[in-house]
Amino acid sequence: MRRLLKDLGYTGESRATDETVSHVLKHPEAVVFVAAAGLDVLGYVAVSVRPQMRLAGLLASVDELVVGTTRRGEGIGTKLLEAAVAHAKNMHCKRIDVLQSRARESYLRGFYQKHHFVEVDTAVMRIDLT
Ligand SMILES: CC(C)(COP(=O)(O)OP(=O)(O)OC[C@H]1O[C@@H](n2cnc3c(N)ncnc32)[C@H](O)[C@@H]1OP(=O)(O)O)[C@@H](O)C(=O)NCCC(=O)NCCS
Repeated sequence: MRRLLKDLGYTGESRATDETVSHVLKHPEAVVFVAAAGLDVLGYVAVSVRPQMRLAGLLASVDELVVGTTRRGEGIGTKLLEAAVAHAKNMHCKRIDVLQSRARESYLRGFYQKHHFVEVDTAVMRIDLT
């Protein structure tokens, strides 16, 4: 998972400690679907689901989606994204969102658009608290 986070572009200090991975896996609102060959993790998608008053229901978010650099273009990312959407539907979510950098290759290739996601005009406002 740490190696894949690096492939996702989060380099430098190790973001995913055993503690944070374990925290996500145990979190009642989070699920992680993994594509694996034996014990080798080829890719994963992390999804969280939480209630929103404004939606009068649940909102799902694709928090992280990554496939190892050597295994891209084989359909693994598509299967992981389909698993995320199927999970959101099974949970009766009203919506599934993903926040993505416009500089990413997958954005430029229209990866999410090819899978029926529609870009909306929402600004992300942030305070970095680290
Ligand atoms: C986005 C990502 C998850 C897609 O995973 P994937 O397993 O390569 O996805 P698929 O094979 O299902 O589809 C990839 C698409 O790009 C094409 N592609 C081919 N080679 C590729 C490559 N080396 N890298 C990326 N895409 C490639 C595929 O042909 C496909 O396009 P198509 O549907 O028009 O044929 C993966 O490229 C990745 O991990 N990127 C870096 C992290 C990222 O951008 N994550 C999403 C934002 S959070």
